[in-house]
Amino acid sequence: MSPYSAILGTGASLPRRAVSNQELTEFLAAKGVETSAEWIETRTGIQQRYLCEPDETNSQMATKAALRALTAASLLPDQIDLIILATSTPDQVFPSTACAVQAEIGAKNAMAFDIQAVCSGFVYALTVADSMIRAGQARNALVIGSEVFSRLMDWHDRTTCVLFGDGAGAVVLQASEAPGVMGCKLHSDGTLSGILNANGRIDGGKIVGDPFLRMDGQAVFRQAVSVLGNSALELFESLSFKLEDLDFLVPHQANVRILHSVAKKLKLPEERVVITVGMHGNTSAASVPLALNHAVEQKQIKKGHNVLLQGVGGGFTWGSVLVRM
Ligand SMILES: CC(C)(COP(=O)(O)OP(=O)(O)OC[C@H]1O[C@@H](n2cnc3c(N)ncnc32)[C@H](O)[C@@H]1OP(=O)(O)O)[C@@H](O)C(=O)NCCC(=O)NCCS
Repeated sequence: MSPYSAILGTGASLPRRAVSNQELTEFLAAKGVETSAEWIETRTGIQQRYLCEPDETNSQMATKAALRALTAASLLPDQIDLIILATSTPDQVFPSTACAVQAEIGAKNAMAFDIQAVCSGFVYALTVADSMIRAGQARNALVIGSEVFSRLMDWHDRTTCVLFGDGAGAVVLQASEAPGVMGCKLHSDGTLSGILNANGRIDGGKIVGDPFLRMDGQAVFRQAVSVLGNSALELFESLSFKLEDLDFLVPHQANVRILHSVAKKLKLPEERVVITVGMHGNTSAASVPLALNHAVEQKQIKKGHNVLLQGVGGGFTWGSVLVRM
């Protein structure tokens, strides 16, 4: 058994098609939905998002992200013994999207399952993978966040449909004698399920309930700023970790104004916050690994950096994972 787990490599994959605010605005105008590229950018920081075409699937993107993370980690698929995939938009009800990825990459020695914690999914999956590695249940894990949130959009609801995008990100986590993952802290509050949900379900061959994502944007905004700030401080205190030793914050990418508010609350200079929401929109469980991979590829985040990964979203769920890269 190893006392820690550590991130060995990262990878990402996006749909073929990038859709600018202008293009989305024209698409929505044709449906009689009024918005503007300027409103979207000033209220959210989003400039574009990637949207899946009908032939693109969650598991295809997850598979590409996983293979890229394996390459970065110099590992082969059959060396992976655990695959955890965070998603709220799986390929199908079952089997899991993680099992589809396992089959695609040929990770024949792995156990594979999905985790559903909406936009906190990746930090939940990373926490579970870290715990399983430290308990001796696995040595090499693929932890993936992959979403096709565009399929939950009501394209007549301008308060939600301009915000979300599709994509996948992955990391390889390996047992290690040194951190790696320094600490994790997760939270949920199911009494807040009403502020962000997609409550439809399949029942008797039909969809019962609402098949679309619904959100009280202002309530979610307030909650997100409050819980992200508190969650960082709580984890730092439990680890006796000093904020000045943090190199980068990689938070869930929902709205640039949320990210600026969290940075202000933590007194963290904005240049130490990784911001990719402009390029990707909100990709739910994929947003943190997509942002992490981007910062690694840009050589912004390097080996030895202390990085705080944070998720927040439907449930309500939230959590933080502190990692030395
Ligand atoms: C959704 C969000 C961008 C809305 O921004 P906001 O500044 O709170 O805007 P409001 O909801 O106060 O709406 C302001 C006005 O803009 C309008 N508006 C909403 N969406 C619009 C759009 N796409 N285009 C143009 N106008 C829009 C509203 O109807 C409202 O008009 P009114 O004043 O005439 O009633 C913001 O609340 C947010 O980002 N919330 C968090 C969302 C989130 O993070 N979700 C995922 C969490 S995992």
